[in-house]
Amino acid sequence: MKPIKVGLLGIGTVGAGTFNVLQRNQEDIRRRAGRGIEITMVAARNIERAARVTNGACQIVDDPFLVVDSPDVDIVVELIGGYDLPRELVLRAIANGKHVVTANKALLALHGNEIFAAAQDKGVMVAFEAAVAGGVPIIKALREGLTANRIESVAGIINGTTNFILSEMRDKGLGFAEVLKKAQELGYAEADPTFDIEGVDAAHKLMIMSAIAFGIPVQFDKAYVEGISALQADDIRYAEELGYRIKLLGITRRSTVDGVEGIELRVHPTLIPTSRLIANVEGAMNAVLVEADAVGSTLYYGKGAGSEPTASAVIADLVDVTRLATVDPYCRVPHLAFQPNEMTDVSI
Ligand code: HSE
Repeated sequence: MKPIKVGLLGIGTVGAGTFNVLQRNQEDIRRRAGRGIEITMVAARNIERAARVTNGACQIVDDPFLVVDSPDVDIVVELIGGYDLPRELVLRAIANGKHVVTANKALLALHGNEIFAAAQDKGVMVAFEAAVAGGVPIIKALREGLTANRIESVAGIINGTTNFILSEMRDKGLGFAEVLKKAQELGYAEADPTFDIEGVDAAHKLMIMSAIAFGIPVQFDKAYVEGISALQADDIRYAEELGYRIKLLGITRRSTVDGVEGIELRVHPTLIPTSRLIANVEGAMNAVLVEADAVGSTLYYGKGAGSEPTASAVIADLVDVTRLATVDPYCRVPHLAFQPNEMTDVSI
């Protein structure tokens, strides 16, 4: 069978990682997907850099619309970040009957409902494992591994940059700005690092997990969001003296207020006893704790940011989409999106 053809929108940190891992592990990936996965086209702002990374293996263009309109692309991988242009590109790719893989949590947190509905109408898949917790397969865990359960809560460290900042400030006594610069150099931070520091990036990811765990629409405006910018070195030190560690947590859980069942959505610095596993998640690592009725507690831990960890999730989605598209070319089961239920959508 011929390889499935992939078009990349963007070849920065994650795009380059995706290209490299696909090349390095191509035999294993081909066997697991049932056919080859080949990047045929890349849209890049910096053509020279893209040419260096891809080494002549695919066509490079500077106009991303050429990729979403190309008959030589079956799956579009959106890695450019931001909201407006990716929304337009993803909707056009879907309208053109292409499957989409995206790492863009901001896009899904703001426009996920529209995008999933369009994909459902068109019978194509939108997969987004890389959008939450980098290489940690939390979307697949929530959507597939825990599908028998009634999920009660999902809580975790889902922003590597802020966890890295808090860890380095505590362990090395470094200043906030210095550690942030280091996180940027390591490729962890968002293009606009205020998204990390003010909890916005974590809130984007929380929305996506909450939508899947509870079957509610994505509703970013309902979340309480507080970042770490008001924290001082003294706060971190005093917390330690009292036996606690400060972590920026994203928390979503079932809750009832005045008889109305709803879902809490909140991101804020949280004091956690140092004896707890999640208090000991350090550096740019992520960890997500899920409480569910049948299985109990499960904890998912790993690298939440960076080139190859995120590429690992992008490629897992490429393999999923390839398998499903091959078994059922019309993809009549759009199971990679969340299935809305009847639950009220209030946030408490
Ligand atoms: N800026 C994000 C983080 C990148 O630090 O976690 C991965 O989503």
